[in-house]
Amino acid sequence: MRKTISGGLLLLALAVPAAAQTPTVRVTVDISKPGAVTDRHIYGQFAEHLGTGIYGGIWVGEDSKISNIRGYRTDVVEALKKIHVPVVRWPGGCFADLYNWRDGIGPRAKRPTRINVHWGGVTDNNAFGTHEFMDFAELIGADPYVSMNVGSLSPYDSAQWVEYMTSSEDASLANERRANGREKPWQLKYLGIGNETWGCGGNMSGEYSASINARYSTFVGAPASMGMVKVASGGSANIGDYKAFTDAMMKGGGRLQALSFHYYAMPDNGRSKGPAIGFGEDRWQEELALTLQMEGYVSDVSAVMDKYDPGKKVALYVDEWGSWYTQEPGSHPGFLYQQNALRDAEVAALTFNIFHRHTDRVKLAAIAQMVNVLQAMILTDGAKMLLTPTYHVFDMYQPFMEATPFAATASGPAYAKGIPMVDVSAARGRNGKLYLALVNTDPHKAAHVLTNLPGTGKGQILTGPAMDTHNTFDAPNTIHPMAFSGTTVDGKAAFDLPAKSVAVVAVE
Ligand code: AHR
Repeated sequence: MRKTISGGLLLLALAVPAAAQTPTVRVTVDISKPGAVTDRHIYGQFAEHLGTGIYGGIWVGEDSKISNIRGYRTDVVEALKKIHVPVVRWPGGCFADLYNWRDGIGPRAKRPTRINVHWGGVTDNNAFGTHEFMDFAELIGADPYVSMNVGSLSPYDSAQWVEYMTSSEDASLANERRANGREKPWQLKYLGIGNETWGCGGNMSGEYSASINARYSTFVGAPASMGMVKVASGGSANIGDYKAFTDAMMKGGGRLQALSFHYYAMPDNGRSKGPAIGFGEDRWQEELALTLQMEGYVSDVSAVMDKYDPGKKVALYVDEWGSWYTQEPGSHPGFLYQQNALRDAEVAALTFNIFHRHTDRVKLAAIAQMVNVLQAMILTDGAKMLLTPTYHVFDMYQPFMEATPFAATASGPAYAKGIPMVDVSAARGRNGKLYLALVNTDPHKAAHVLTNLPGTGKGQILTGPAMDTHNTFDAPNTIHPMAFSGTTVDGKAAFDLPAKSVAVVAVE
């Protein structure tokens, strides 16, 4: 039976302080100010050939003892279908710019084994290639986003790959695809023109990257009916001058349709990145503060884009984001395997709330990464699998897909410098209901939330007894969403929002 949190009465060990000591936060939603519809593609994910993100995490092969559908883990496929993943980006990341698509087609036994130089120097037998990726995307109902190698292959190679995937002609590449088992062309929705060209994608200057984008995007094309979007590789707030890079791309990148941007909430202050679990409150605070910096970065990048594109025709794709900690002790060096805790649920929810405030420009995002890498939805260990708190946030936020956002403010105390105690997002869902997402960043205090919305709210909450509450393979259901209801104060919806929690409610 599901446990329920209602009207300020919190079951389990999550004690709520007496109402008198509970800070009040006033949430005001302005339904007269609808924003641009929230593109469901902002809930996308990134799956790179990195660690056990693909091999073991998604792909086990048809002969595996682990239950699978044509080689894909059944448990992982089912979990991903449940959250309606809108888009998956592949094969990298850094991996993409040393990837030759020809290595990953044809009979698997004949595919070459290469060394994954970026991620641990391990071998990759190319069992997961173009057919396996495109079929996986189809299987989970996601749009495929394929990143071209512009760092070490030619525009001709990229053009051939795109033709192989998308052509319906009686021509050699399409026929080769047919011979390899796929009759119909795949619907290739997004095409990345490189990745982090300023770094692992080729160490290029902004100006050179812009020329590379203009050149490669001239030669890669899918049938117009596919509506494929070409994504120029943009800057990152973690390294270098992202504003100058954005400027260079907008100025010299050719006719852009979308420009990417990367930002990891990665502690980088001379100390270690810190552990994913077993951390103190200083690390909780630091990580949430880093997460909230996304707001400024997106605003900055949008402002540069506005200079060249005031009509906002070029979309901004935040196609790598998430928490990045020191990898788990004992895990393979270079695999970026980290646990995932309640803190990461807050990172995800705060980030979505930021994207909801920028729906005019941000049309796609991809968390890094899908399975077993960085801020993952899912962790696997052999046949075992668990859903992380981040997965649960993706699940809870589904009503915001294609919803119409409204300006919303939360006035009340700050939890810490620059970190409001409560962060809010509001939108009208496609079903006509008004949804609120509420995040309490304070790990100690509940908040008494009073809204200006008539009625009462009901939905789900994710919280736990500790800042690092997480699921393990032995206890995979330690943290999961619970039913949550508010009350009504003076005819308006009100909530007793527990410390360190994320709630999504419909107000009726
Ligand atoms: O997600 C891990 C790596 O982070 C990606 O390969 C790269 O694009 C970024 O620097």
